[in-house]
Amino acid sequence: MDSNAVESAPPPESIDVALGARGYRVVVGAGLFGLPTPFGDIGLGRRAAIITDENIAPLYLATVEAALAAAGAETTSMILPPGEASKSFAGLERILGWLLDAGMERGDSVVALGGGVVGDVAGLAASLMKRGCRLIQIPTTLLAQVDSSVGGKTAIDMPQGKNLVGAFYQPGLVLADTAMLDSLPPREMRAGYAEVVKYGLIDKPEFFAWLEENGASLLAGNPQARRYAVSACVRAKAAIVAEDEREQGRRALLNLGHTFAHALEAAAGYGGELLHGEAVAIGMTLAFELSARLGRCPAADVARVRDHLRSAGLPVRPADSGISFKLDILLAHMQQDKKAKAGRLTFILAKGIGKSFISDDVDMDDVRMVLEAGLE
Ligand code: GLY
Repeated sequence: MDSNAVESAPPPESIDVALGARGYRVVVGAGLFGLPTPFGDIGLGRRAAIITDENIAPLYLATVEAALAAAGAETTSMILPPGEASKSFAGLERILGWLLDAGMERGDSVVALGGGVVGDVAGLAASLMKRGCRLIQIPTTLLAQVDSSVGGKTAIDMPQGKNLVGAFYQPGLVLADTAMLDSLPPREMRAGYAEVVKYGLIDKPEFFAWLEENGASLLAGNPQARRYAVSACVRAKAAIVAEDEREQGRRALLNLGHTFAHALEAAAGYGGELLHGEAVAIGMTLAFELSARLGRCPAADVARVRDHLRSAGLPVRPADSGISFKLDILLAHMQQDKKAKAGRLTFILAKGIGKSFISDDVDMDDVRMVLEAGLE
């Protein structure tokens, strides 16, 4: 972390996820672990079991262990191999066995220190451990800070598709230290940026316009731009989650591009060839192209979306990924989508930038045409 950036950073912002008894704070700021009490008054229990991965452990594990110890918790740590493969039944079983061997009690804390993979699998383990112990999310990637650490979605992947087995389980606290993003590889940063853009496309056209102006600076490491964007996204997500915790309605908008993205990821095989955020960038572009094909979205808005994602170095067509996808396999994976009702797929479409809506009457022939055009 750049100590000058931390010293000159404004004080952290605390954003409430207003869910009554399941409510919690998301703290956004640079250098949170240099503060005297980063965990505030949440009560960690006797033990804190940190789950992290091999990329993050050398960078931040000692800092987080020291902060937990200073807050009075005994710490123990498990370091997973990096990558989506840890989000499996076998990976979950290993974590649960390790937590039991460590003598974790229900009043103790599981601390997820890492990106979306660590957060999802550690979150699911926390939800199952003795029927639920406290979960603290410390997201270290842009994607996890703006999306996956907030809102309580936890999951593992199945051969049938991504995130198909999981639970809604809200954390007790999220600490999003934007200085941790300094160590993020550029490809991961760009992938997380796709989820940042998503909030502009859903219902914040002024934020999308801000990203058109400031996205390059954010990606180049400007700490103020990062902090502003992470706070804006967390505020947007907190509001949606507070309104619709279990995705009965509006929360589905957060899945813009994800029906396509999950199918692309499943077909690519989770081996790191296509990152989640890269698949989301392609998926959001396809969702706008589908909207235009259905006569719902002006072509100029589709072009703005495509141009902006491309200028951020993200793929916008399946073929851009360099992977050779088969149309029928993608369509078969799409049928596994969690939003499907009575066999019909739900899509998030848009009437323009910042004007997204949920639709369950999309003809699969139109989906096929849009996908096919992107495969060439
Ligand atoms: N990542 C989408 C959601 O949390 O609903």
